[in-house]
Amino acid sequence: MSPVEYAKHGTVAVLTVNNPPVNAMSPGVPKGVVRGVERANGDAGVAAVVLIGAGRGFIAGADIRYFSRPWPEGEETFKDIIAAFEASPKPVVAAIHGHALGGGLETAMACHYRVIAPAARVGQPEVKLGFPPGAGGTQRLPRLAGVAAALDMIVSGAPVKAREAADLGIVDATIEGDLLEGAVAFAAARGAEAGPHRRVRDIEIALDDRGVFDAKRKEIARRSRGMRAPYACIECVEAAVDLDFDAGVERERAIFEDCVESGESKALRHVFFAERAARKIPGVGKEVEPRAIAKAGVLGAGTMGGGIAMNFANAGIPVTVVERNREAIDRGMATIERNYAATVAKGRMSREAMDARMALIAPSTDYGDLADADMIIEAVFEEMAVKKEVFAALDRVAKPDAILTSNTSYLDIDEIADTIPNRRGHVLGTHFFSPANVMRLLEVVRTRTVSDVDLVTTMEVGRGMRKLPIVAGVCHGFIGNRMLEGYFGEAALMVEEGATPARIDTVMVDYGMAMGPLAVADLAGLDVGWRKRKDAAGGRNPPAERGSHVSTRLCEMGRFGQKTGRGYYIYEEGSRRPTPDPEVDRLAAEAAADLGLEPRAFGDDEIVERCMYPLVNIGADILAEGHALRASDIDLVYINGYGYPAWRGGPMHWAGAVGLDKVHDAVRRYRDALGFGHWRPSPLLKRLAEEGGTFEDFDRENAG
Ligand code: CAA
Ligand code: NAI
Repeated sequence: MSPVEYAKHGTVAVLTVNNPPVNAMSPGVPKGVVRGVERANGDAGVAAVVLIGAGRGFIAGADIRYFSRPWPEGEETFKDIIAAFEASPKPVVAAIHGHALGGGLETAMACHYRVIAPAARVGQPEVKLGFPPGAGGTQRLPRLAGVAAALDMIVSGAPVKAREAADLGIVDATIEGDLLEGAVAFAAARGAEAGPHRRVRDIEIALDDRGVFDAKRKEIARRSRGMRAPYACIECVEAAVDLDFDAGVERERAIFEDCVESGESKALRHVFFAERAARKIPGVGKEVEPRAIAKAGVLGAGTMGGGIAMNFANAGIPVTVVERNREAIDRGMATIERNYAATVAKGRMSREAMDARMALIAPSTDYGDLADADMIIEAVFEEMAVKKEVFAALDRVAKPDAILTSNTSYLDIDEIADTIPNRRGHVLGTHFFSPANVMRLLEVVRTRTVSDVDLVTTMEVGRGMRKLPIVAGVCHGFIGNRMLEGYFGEAALMVEEGATPARIDTVMVDYGMAMGPLAVADLAGLDVGWRKRKDAAGGRNPPAERGSHVSTRLCEMGRFGQKTGRGYYIYEEGSRRPTPDPEVDRLAAEAAADLGLEPRAFGDDEIVERCMYPLVNIGADILAEGHALRASDIDLVYINGYGYPAWRGGPMHWAGAVGLDKVHDAVRRYRDALGFGHWRPSPLLKRLAEEGGTFEDFDRENAG
């Protein structure tokens, strides 16, 4: 059966694309459209054609799976649709509801006219997949919307709403009532007019100021570091201005094909499917429906609790925040208010919206006020004894079926759950990332005992907060923090071996990280690890070990990082900009002398390998143990919680692109040279390396 249905409504032929779930242009769709246009043109009783989508939207673009597999031999493509529309003497009208994205918008722009439903959106999101539009979008959109607006849309990938599409001239009419009925009436009227009907390709491009291109390059320079696609988009729109239409289309196609083959595009396509896979929990079917969460509670209004309370308010869920005393809760509420006010000041939220959200957050110092909460998140001090006390208190007041979660970074949540045996099925972890109201990642930590319903409900609450929830198992540091140990560890070791903090950080920022590891260490506070080492040494100054010589000395000098204005770097009063400090280089040289290490030069490759390969190696262990459901989940954790560049696809995908055999060889080499635990080769890494596989292969095997 063809995914494109043909019907006649009076003098109008209606082609309906019916390819669930999103009407992607899979094989069969182009053929159906082309045949439909031919049939309409061969029928004297037809005066015009309407192209419309069934279900949720118009057309979501190319079928992204086919960028990594061959298109069936001889099967029609986008090109054939566009040729058929442009050659059609009878006008073709696109009727857009839901979404017209990528190739979907390109198809609509190859029609003679476009009408739109008020709630629909149109856009060219291809850049998010690592390539520019490839079916004439960069040539037609500037002709309809003007060069500057088209450039904004194509380079950002962000869709625009129907209203803006109409204002920009992308669509010809907005249909308020029934879209099909309105589109048929519109098409019948156009069909009754004498042709020829205007084709978008024939519109003249007007551009007064060629400066828009360089201005755009400058504007995106920071956020597009290391990427090709945004610049490729600019090049394509420039071609629309510089070349005639057909030459422009040809140029766009060449750039598009080149980009599709790039590592950047493969990585971004991997991320696209990873985000969709992350919603699925093996063994937990669709029949497990989330419970309704009408009221929530948060314990602790510190750094994390305040942000978590904002998340509930942002999702429209009333929340009670409980602190130890009046002073603490007042301080917490003041911080929340200040955070919202800053968003209002930046023009990103209205004052009314802020007031509405503040009204959803109720401060309290009484656990009893949590009695009607359906879900309570604990974000108190990171100490097992305190957490257990808090859960015991919740056991006394919470509803019998309330979901109780801990925001702990490292503690064993199974152990916490075991302290309240009657509620074990309702206890799990929600590990937010700082700042909790901003960062998109949420690790949902699945305890041994949590019910599927509560797990699914917690994932759904996370999505309602516009987070990306990723399932993690209970282990020290869960997915993200557990993998970090080797990353920070190696950065500190390299400082002792003679690489300066600035050198290491520069290499890692050039690699694509949002910040280098030593700047991050300064931000998080060097004292945290120091105190831990001190505790382990019974409160005395901890003995210097490989990797902690420099940071221990810095802490002894009161240099805890950004909060004290000095750490691995110096920070001017009120500034977060790290300035290198020769004093630190001197401390490093002293450490090297104590350790008998000869200072030496570091290649960029060694710095990247020593920071990244331990992440991958530990990630492989986490995967093999089942503490992550899939390698692609680990990739999403790093991209959304740790400033890892999406265009590299996440550490596990990146390792596959490097070659797991090469990674495994290097891990063994570093184990022999350095010997630290994080260099013990993961058996899974070893197996995949020997098989010539990747972590994606592992995910596929596991998905059955
Ligand atoms: N190709 C193949 N599969 C697609 C797809 C596409 N273009 N778009 C969505 N899907 C799949 C998803 O993988 C998902 O599959 P599973 O259910 O198996 O996980 C399913 O469709 C539903 O997708 P969502 O969960 O994302 O649904 P949503 O309702 O939340 O969002 C959407 C709908 C806004 C259309 C969103 O899916 C989306 O943004 N899709 C991608 C749009 C896009 O990037 N288009 C450009 C493609 S490239 C192109 O067109 C090149 C060109 O110029 C020729
Ligand atoms: P914080 O010290 O800023 O806040 C903790 C708050 O809990 C304090 O305001 C304290 O008064 C309150 N509190 C303590 N005992 C309480 C009790 N019995 N009842 C009610 N309130 C109580 O700590 P932070 O940073 O917010 O951390 C909280 C939790 O989140 C910890 O488990 C931490 O490991 C975790 N976490 C922290 C991250 C961070 O970057 N700070 C990131 C992710 C998780």
